[in-house]
Amino acid sequence: MLNEQFFSGRRKALFEQLEMNSAAVIFAADEKTRSADTEYHFRQNSYFYYLTGFNEPDAVLLLIKKDHGQETILFNRDKDKVQEIWHGRRLGQAQALKNFDIDQALSINELSAALPPFINGCETLYSCHGESMRGEQQLTETMTALRQGMKKNWRAPSVQIDLRLILDDMRLFKQNAEVEVMRKAARISSDAHTRAMRFVEPGQFEYQLEAEIMHEFASRGARFAAYNSIVGGGDNACILHYTENESVLNDGDLVLIDAGCEYQGYAADITRTFPVNGKFSEEQKAIYNLVLEAQLAAIKLIKPSSTVKAANDEVIRIVTQGLLDLGVISGDFEQLMEEEIYKDFYMHGLGHWIGIDVHDVGDYCTSERTRVLEPGMVLTIEPGIYISEDSGVDEKWRGIGVRIEDDLLVTVDGNEVLTKDVVKTVDEIEAVMA
Ligand code: GLY
Ligand code: MN
Ligand code: MN
Repeated sequence: MLNEQFFSGRRKALFEQLEMNSAAVIFAADEKTRSADTEYHFRQNSYFYYLTGFNEPDAVLLLIKKDHGQETILFNRDKDKVQEIWHGRRLGQAQALKNFDIDQALSINELSAALPPFINGCETLYSCHGESMRGEQQLTETMTALRQGMKKNWRAPSVQIDLRLILDDMRLFKQNAEVEVMRKAARISSDAHTRAMRFVEPGQFEYQLEAEIMHEFASRGARFAAYNSIVGGGDNACILHYTENESVLNDGDLVLIDAGCEYQGYAADITRTFPVNGKFSEEQKAIYNLVLEAQLAAIKLIKPSSTVKAANDEVIRIVTQGLLDLGVISGDFEQLMEEEIYKDFYMHGLGHWIGIDVHDVGDYCTSERTRVLEPGMVLTIEPGIYISEDSGVDEKWRGIGVRIEDDLLVTVDGNEVLTKDVVKTVDEIEAVMA
C-alpha cells in the first residue's frame, strides 16, 4: 500500500533534481464528460498521482526551490456541503495539511492569483506540457501576468523545461513500495485469467469471459482494468487491439485474452491463449509451443546489462526457425531472416515499460529498444504469432493467433516474473481447464 511516506519521498527525490531558483507545476487530471451531465470514472493524471497519491480533480501541485529553502504547495477544492452531498467527499485544505507532508494547502480558486507571486523570481519553470489543456492555459496566463507585472517588479522565468525529462526516468525505476503494489496487481490479474480458463465453454460469447475477468478485478479491490480488455476467439485473436469482444466462442478455436487490472494506480498486463474446449489441436499446440519457447528464451535474456533488443533478436530467430521447421513457411533460414519474413506473423514489438501507465514512460533510447536494462525497471515480454484466415499459408494453420505476455521486474541477478501465478504450458493449461 503506497503511503504518504512514499509520495513525499518522490517529491523529495524530484526536488533534488530541480535547478536552484525554479518552480515546478503539476496539474491533476480534468474530469471527462461521457455524455450530457455524466462523467467517465475519474482517473488521476499519472504524474500528479506519482507525486501526491491524491485522487481528486481540480488540484495542482506546486514545488518551489529557492536559495533560502523549498516549499510544497497543494491547491485543491474547497469543502462544499452541497457539492459533497451530490457528488462525493472533498478533502479540503485543513485535512490536506494533515494528510500530506506539505507546507501549504490553498483553495484551487486562488490558483490564478497565487501562481504569479509564487513563481516570481524563479529562473526556471518546469511543467508537463500538454498533459492538461487547462494547465496550459493557466501557465500561459501566469507567464503573461509575470511579464506584465513590471510595476510590481515581477520577473518571469526565462527558461521553461519539460518536467518529464526528470519524472519519466524516476518513474522507470520502481521503488520497493511500487513493486509491492505491482505484485498485487499481477496477482489479481493472474487469478482473473485462471478464472476465465476455468469458466470458458464453446458457445459462450467473448464478453462473458471479459465479465469474468472484470468480476475478479473489481471484487479484489481493482475496480478498473488498466486498459480495455482484449478477448478474441479464433481469427479475432489475429487483430492485435481487438476490443469488440462480441463474438461467439467456437468449439475447436483458441481464445486470446489480454487483460490486466489497475490496482492502487499501477497496471498489470497479461496475455494468455487457450483452447475454448480445453484441448489444444496439434496445429494449435505447435504454434503455442513455439511462442512459449520464444517467450521463455526472451525472459532468460532479461537481466542487467542486457537489452530488449537482444531478447527480441532471439525471439525473431526462434520464430523464423520454428515456422520453417513446422513447414508453415519454406525457404532458406538466412534468406528468410534477411527478408524479415517474421513480420508477416509477429508484427509488434517484444514489450514495453509498465507502471502507473500500462505503456509506461521511460526512454527506450532507440526504436529498437537498446536501453541497457537495470534493476528496478519493469517491462512486459509478449511475443506472438498470428496466422489469420486470409493468410497465404496452408489452411490447417489459419485462424490461429497466439500471444503470451508476462510482466517482469529486472533484479540484480536476472528478473522476477511478477505474473507467474497464471499457468502457461500446454499441459498446465489443459489441467486447469479439465
Ligand atoms: N495490452 C496492450 C499491450 O499488451 O501492450
Ligand atoms: Mn497486453
Ligand atoms: Mn503489453
